[in-house]
Amino acid sequence: MTILVTGGLGYIGSHTVVELLKNEFEVVIVDDLSNSERFILQNIEKIAGKKPAFFPFDLKRKELLTQIFDAYEIAGCINFAAYKAVGESQEKPLDYYENNLFTLINILQEFKVRNISNFIFSSSCTVYGQADEMPIDENTPLKTPESSYGKTKQMGEEILKDFATAYGRRVSLLRYFNPIGAHPSALLGELPIGIPNNLVPYVTQTAAGIREKLNIWGNDYPTEDGTAIRDYIYVVDLAKAHVKALQKLITSNEETVIDIFNIGTGKGSSVLEVVEAYERANNVSVPYEICERRPGDITIAYANADKAERELGWKAETSLEEALRTTWEWQKYLESRL
Ligand code: UFG
Repeated sequence: MTILVTGGLGYIGSHTVVELLKNEFEVVIVDDLSNSERFILQNIEKIAGKKPAFFPFDLKRKELLTQIFDAYEIAGCINFAAYKAVGESQEKPLDYYENNLFTLINILQEFKVRNISNFIFSSSCTVYGQADEMPIDENTPLKTPESSYGKTKQMGEEILKDFATAYGRRVSLLRYFNPIGAHPSALLGELPIGIPNNLVPYVTQTAAGIREKLNIWGNDYPTEDGTAIRDYIYVVDLAKAHVKALQKLITSNEETVIDIFNIGTGKGSSVLEVVEAYERANNVSVPYEICERRPGDITIAYANADKAERELGWKAETSLEEALRTTWEWQKYLESRL
């Protein structure tokens, strides 16, 4: 069975491609390499022992997308191709709406005319905003996200719900919490472009001496140590959730399915806890300074992921420290390539 994976050379996409190949799916990747490099494709092949088909183009080019659907019998899609920098989305909202939503609609148009079902969408816990109660389950009320990036996730969910309802198709919306870590082979991981925005890549570059110190954005939050709390989910565990969600759609007897799952560990960790775990796991030192809060940041978010366990048989398996160890191994691999 052939699955289209858009953004399949990106951070979460590449890990998911490996898991799909391990589970005997055929994979067709479309990725414009805007946030990846070609060696990731070779490394996927090294890990999985199989080479997925790969097309390096922008999904906004509808005629090329049509050619792929003509050439392969696509049975489903996991759609990772999207811009994801929260801050940048505030400066370039139109680019975010265009890239994240036009490409989604282009794929769904092909699904519509060819009668294809089974679509997995990368959503985000950002759709909950600062929830009133922890942990966050799938019935927690949604809030309009502050960033245009977050809005594209919420709009994407709505587009997919309407698509599934109107045309009788199966979709799964996966709300990721904070993905971290790298493949245990150290051949796949997050490729930082410029100065990292996210915590773990920044901590890694600080430990590696690329950055002088970590800026901790605020220690006056109403949490035990004053720093903000998130649910850090290991990227390979997250990749496995996609395969489980896809298998559920494929084997469903229902014509219309709208699945929504939180994908997190169920455990919150503060920024200081992450820094300490990183130092412990890798025997490195991460100098830091406490700074003002970062605008738009929430205090606390962690998942109740029981629904994914109940309905998908999926649950996070990897500890924070283990995930942070793989991150450091990946950093060393990147340095060895220079
Ligand atoms: N942080 C620092 N210093 C840094 C970077 C981050 O202190 O250099 C702190 C942040 O203030 C926050 C925590 O570390 O408290 C995590 O920050 P990240 O930027 O790693 O992650 P966010 O939770 O802000 O954002 C993530 C994803 C978004 C998604 C959002 C949903 O990056 O794509 O979760 O809440 F929308």
